[in-house]
Amino acid sequence: MTIQQEMFETIEKELKRQVARLDQPRTRQFHEMLTYHMGWTGEGAGPDATGKRIRPLLVLLASASCDPDSSWAHASPAAAAIELVHNFSLVHDDIQDNSDKRRGRNTVWVKWGAPMAINVGDALFVIANQAVMDLVEHYPAEIVVKAADILNNACLDLTRGQFMDMSYEERNDLSIDDYWPMIGGKTSALISACTQIGAMLGHANEAQQEAYRLFGHHLGLAFQVQDDILGIWGDEALTGKSTASDLVEGKNSLPILYALGKHGKFAERWAQGPITANEVKEVSSLLEDEGARTYADDASKTETDKALEYLDQANPCGEAGESIRQLANMLLKRKQ
Ligand code: IPE
Ligand code: IPE
Ligand code: MG
Ligand code: MG
Repeated sequence: MTIQQEMFETIEKELKRQVARLDQPRTRQFHEMLTYHMGWTGEGAGPDATGKRIRPLLVLLASASCDPDSSWAHASPAAAAIELVHNFSLVHDDIQDNSDKRRGRNTVWVKWGAPMAINVGDALFVIANQAVMDLVEHYPAEIVVKAADILNNACLDLTRGQFMDMSYEERNDLSIDDYWPMIGGKTSALISACTQIGAMLGHANEAQQEAYRLFGHHLGLAFQVQDDILGIWGDEALTGKSTASDLVEGKNSLPILYALGKHGKFAERWAQGPITANEVKEVSSLLEDEGARTYADDASKTETDKALEYLDQANPCGEAGESIRQLANMLLKRKQ
C-alpha cells in the first residue's frame, strides 16, 4: 500500500468517527443527510461520491513530509476537520450557486430542500470545530489553539470569497484584478490552511511553515483556475457537476473575465443578459476561439510552478515528500 492509500483509509475512518457524533435516536435521518453528502450512503455511494479528499491528504502529507519519523496519524483530527469545513462549504455553495449535481449525485438541497441543507452545512461546520479539539490527545494545547485559529481565519476568508463570488454575478465592471482576491478567499484560504497546519503538526519551524502555507496558497489558486476551466469545458461524467451551470449562473470566472477584456463577440453577448442552457455549447466555443481557455491554462500552469517553487523551499522529505510533489503535479492535469 502506498502512503497516500494508507492516509486515505485513515482519513475516511476519522471522518466517519467525527460525523457519528450525530448518530443518535430521533435524528437518524439527519445523520443520514450528512453521510449521504460525504458519499458513504444512499444511491451511488462509493469512491466517486466521496470526492477526491485532497485537502485532508495535503494535511497528512505536509505533516509527514516535515517529520518522517513522527506518526502522521496523530494529525488526522485536523485532516478530518478541514475536509468537514470543505464539505460544509460545498453544501451551502450548491444552494448559493443553484447547483443540482455534486460528485455525480443530486445535491443535498435538491434531495431535502434548502432549509434542511443549511442545517446539514451547519452541523458539518460545528463537527469540524469539534474535530480540531481532538488534537489534544497528541499535541500541547498551545498547538491546538493555533490550529483552530488558522482554521477559523481560513473559514472567514472563505466566506469573504463567497461574498465576492456571489456579488460579482450582478456586476459588469470587473477585470481580472478582481478575480484573484475572490478565489484567494473562496478556495486558496482553506488549501493553504491544510499545508500550514500540516507543517505545524509535523513540527516544522516558522520559516518552513510559511513555505508550506505559500505552497498551499498558490496550489489553491491553480486548483480554482482548473475548476473554472472544467466548469466550462469539463466532462460532466468525470467532474460530477453540471458543465452549463457556471455560464448559466453568470459566474465571472477567469475565462469569462479574460474574454470580457477582449471586447469581442463574447463580451457583446454577455452584456445582453443571461446565457440560456441551449446556448452553452456555442458560447463556450466562442470563448475558446477568443483565447480564454489557453489563457486560463497558462495561468494555472504559472500558479502551479510558483507552488512547486515554494514546495522546494519547504524541502519536503521522504516518501511523503515525493507524494506531495506528485499530488501537486497531478492536480494541474486533473479532469475531475
Ligand atoms: C470543489 O473542490 C470546490 C472548489 C474549491 C473548486 P474539490 O474539487 O476538491 O471537490 P471534491 O471534494 O473533490 O468533490
Ligand atoms: C468553490 O466554489 C469554493 C467553495 C465551495 C467555498 P465553486 O462554486 O467555484 O465550486 P464548484 O464548482 O461548485 O465545486
Ligand atoms: Mg460557488
Ligand atoms: Mg459552486
